[in-house]
Amino acid sequence: MPLSATEQAKKAVGEKVAALVVSGMRLGLGTGSTAAWAIRAIGRRVREEGLQVVGVPTSYAAEQLARAEGIPLVTLADVEELDLAFDGADEVSPALDLIKGRGAAHTREKVVATQARRFVVLVDASKLVHRLGTRCPVPVEVLPMAAAPVMRQLRRMGAEPVLRMGKAKDGPVVTDQGFWVIDAHFPEGIDDPQALAMTLSTIPGVLDHGLFLGMATDVLVGEANGQIRHMQ
Ligand code: 5RP
Repeated sequence: MPLSATEQAKKAVGEKVAALVVSGMRLGLGTGSTAAWAIRAIGRRVREEGLQVVGVPTSYAAEQLARAEGIPLVTLADVEELDLAFDGADEVSPALDLIKGRGAAHTREKVVATQARRFVVLVDASKLVHRLGTRCPVPVEVLPMAAAPVMRQLRRMGAEPVLRMGKAKDGPVVTDQGFWVIDAHFPEGIDDPQALAMTLSTIPGVLDHGLFLGMATDVLVGEANGQIRHMQ
């Protein structure tokens, strides 16, 4: 079946970042459908060109895919820093601030991204927004026993919190850490992402949130016309 225009854009940016990789690099391997294109393209280069890299996966899903593709894996205990980390995003602002976490992997994704000298974000053009929060809620990963007080606190902060449920609606989504995710909706968008990020980080029971501010060094945007826009 031919790929949709969106999927083609995701594939193009995934293959673009894979082409930036050179032997010896220590990589952060992102999570989601766009990052998966990059992992597959890097795996192909490992098998066909003898590209020598190691990767730190940002989720169990990324780990499984990287293993299947033959990319050697290490942990953050094994490497002092990463040369390049790549990942998808759910929103990208003009300042290159991000909302991540539709895949419930934002906590590990943030840890890995902070260890990288270069953090390349891969998106199709639908992810670009003028104001964070207008397209997606902010995912907040919480200790299950703290979910109710965290939701009350989010309401006091003007958000509309929704506990994220599994596809079968048979219970909350459980993260790789065994935590839950509350999606904090801000119908008018987020006025001050810095202030919100700081406040969210101080709520007891919150592991981490999906605001990635000042972290992206590059954003590769797959456009509808097949071009790739490089934002820095
Ligand atoms: C997972 C993420 C993903 O990177 C983000 O949701 C984008 O996913 P996709 O590339 O499938 O649109 O943050 O936690």
